[in-house]
Amino acid sequence: MDIAVWLRGLGLERYELAFRDNEIGRETLPKLTAEDLKDLGVVLGRHRRKLLAAIAALQGNAAPAMETTSALQAAERRQLTVMFCDLVGSTELASRLDPEDLREVVAAYQRAVADVVAGFDGFVAKYMGDGVLAYFGYPRAHEEDAEHAVRAGLGVVDAVRSLDIEPVKLQARVGIATGLVVVGDLIGVGSAREQSVVGETPNLAARLQALAEPNAVVIAADTHRLVRNLFEYRDLGAFEVKGLSAPMPAWQVLHPSSVASRFEALRGSTLTRLVGRDEEIDQLIHRWERAKAGNGQVVLVSGEPGLGKSRIAAALGERLHVEPHFRQRYFCSPYRQDSALYPFIDQIGRAAGIEPTDPPASKLEKLEALLTRGSPSDEDVAFLPDLVSLPGSERHPLPALSPQRKKERTLEALMRRLEGLARRQPVVMIFEDAHWIDPTSRELLDLTVERVRSLSVLLIVTFRPEFQPPPWSGGPHVATLVLNRLDRRERAALAAQIAGKTLPDEVIAQIVERTDGVPLFVEELTKSVLESELLREEEGRYVLDGPLPSLAIPTTLHASLTARLDRLASVRHIAQIGAAFGRWFRYTSMRAVSGLSEDELQASRPARRFRAGLSKRCAARCGLYLQARAGPGSSLQQPVAHYAATIARADRRSAGGAFPGIDGQPARALCAPLRRSWVR
Ligand SMILES: Nc1ncnc2c1ncn2[C@@H]1O[C@H](COP(=O)(O)OP(=O)(O)OP(=O)(O)O)[C@@H](O)[C@H]1O
Ligand SMILES: [Mg+2]
Repeated sequence: MDIAVWLRGLGLERYELAFRDNEIGRETLPKLTAEDLKDLGVVLGRHRRKLLAAIAALQGNAAPAMETTSALQAAERRQLTVMFCDLVGSTELASRLDPEDLREVVAAYQRAVADVVAGFDGFVAKYMGDGVLAYFGYPRAHEEDAEHAVRAGLGVVDAVRSLDIEPVKLQARVGIATGLVVVGDLIGVGSAREQSVVGETPNLAARLQALAEPNAVVIAADTHRLVRNLFEYRDLGAFEVKGLSAPMPAWQVLHPSSVASRFEALRGSTLTRLVGRDEEIDQLIHRWERAKAGNGQVVLVSGEPGLGKSRIAAALGERLHVEPHFRQRYFCSPYRQDSALYPFIDQIGRAAGIEPTDPPASKLEKLEALLTRGSPSDEDVAFLPDLVSLPGSERHPLPALSPQRKKERTLEALMRRLEGLARRQPVVMIFEDAHWIDPTSRELLDLTVERVRSLSVLLIVTFRPEFQPPPWSGGPHVATLVLNRLDRRERAALAAQIAGKTLPDEVIAQIVERTDGVPLFVEELTKSVLESELLREEEGRYVLDGPLPSLAIPTTLHASLTARLDRLASVRHIAQIGAAFGRWFRYTSMRAVSGLSEDELQASRPARRFRAGLSKRCAARCGLYLQARAGPGSSLQQPVAHYAATIARADRRSAGGAFPGIDGQPARALCAPLRRSWVR
């Protein structure tokens, strides 16, 4: 087993050197503990967790990580966010510095960039003198790739600016673009090995970088569409790019925005009318009535990304807005899973109106004003400033305590704050995205669930299915709402509502069929049809401007779909081939094309992972993504040919890479049903 390949498959190739220097091999790997990983320099908690999970998977079953990597070695079409970063004034530096010194400066700069990029799960693909090219979305896709890239861009600018290298002051500029590319095989040897990327995205990123001022991050339209209100921008207008017909708009990213919730930042503040979900809202209202009477209630809202968990919480807020109550909103963040009590600290900061730029004295004043409204004890007033990293006031000094004791007292202080509020007015406490919770917040959440029983509090906790149901989820005051997909009628209603005008029946039918009842998919697919050139307006309704092709997958959905596919390492291979056939495929066709043995196919079919992870729906969703890869206008045989080539390269088992036929029929015959389904 090649540890370097294994690490690469996890997107953690930055630790390759440390593993090699410490002679970590197949035998020692399963024995590594979290402490050992720390000693190996794996300082980021989420990287440690990822490695420990992969090591555990190796112990149970060596296959998953390896399978992923082998599949990833082949060329594939992916949406990638590409970051291009350059050192400002390097020519001038070269003329001023001795070559030895210059080498050191460039090395320090490259290290700084590589560290930041790796911290956001990026992949440094290439160093080109003082230019660094990094990918986000390869070798593993993440739902937040574009956001990671932008955060990394801001981080790179900061890191380079604060490099302390006498006698120069370094500055970087960064360009970021997102788009479909083909990530190719490894080319070159040794340190020159690089993953080839074909597509216009890297060029665009390089062009944007050249446009950027020193210490600035400039992003392209597709990246901007993906990160929306997560950041504040300066609009740079449109500029000409050689080889592109239309001018390209660009934005300079200023800083992360202060919008509290990812839901509002990404989904926008103007919502269409809620479709369906009457029963769920009724159930929430019913629980609210009980909570108001002093019998606190907890509702766990679970569902896959995009099913509408945040939307239900928002809808309840709208329903209750005329009733006197306090609404307290807490948001876990994928970036703060190692930051103790982050959701609570963030909430207090927002409630107090503290701005990051406020001087400490005014922050403390605002915090004290907030706390006094809840008439807390002096002791609580002493603990909370410390929590938000403010020095305590002279009137309420912090007692000297052990860290454990201090934590307990802080949790108590936060609990009492909630109790104080609930005594004055009923409270709706919305705790979002618990799958990203940090361990200390988890303790406080457990404590809260216990305490709210006797308070006028309705606690709503939203999470994705990867969050383990807590032990208290069976409690008498705890209800679970597992969100279902929208039915066909609701999907059509949602699409119609987003369009605002009547859509052609065929368009509605395709949206209904291909979105599997996930509201986010309905929303994004409908918006992308509206933005395409497929429709024109005629007498207050939309009509098709030609035959309706298979709708392409919107940019906004690529990352999360690819991330799901990448996670399904053991069945990814099957999903990819299946996608070439369409949303449904025959077992015999799969057997013939995949080159997998009966045993291997059967092993992945009844496996729980297949049922739970790659259920028909999920397979269809993978198909939804992959189908789009050939593009509507391409040759109809291309998808199968493309996958056959991909598969042949990834898995040399199919004799010499030849594309096998079905039951003696050649590939051409196999493509016939595909051709029909493609035309449909
Ligand atoms: N019943 C519905 N009617 C209308 N729009 C909906 C409905 N449910 C969800 N949406 C819309 O679909 C999009 C996705 O919903 P939402 O963000 O609430 O999903 P989520 O389950 O919270 O996902 P995540 O796990 O990513 O946080 C949003 O734009 C939301 O407004
Ligand atoms: Mg949500």
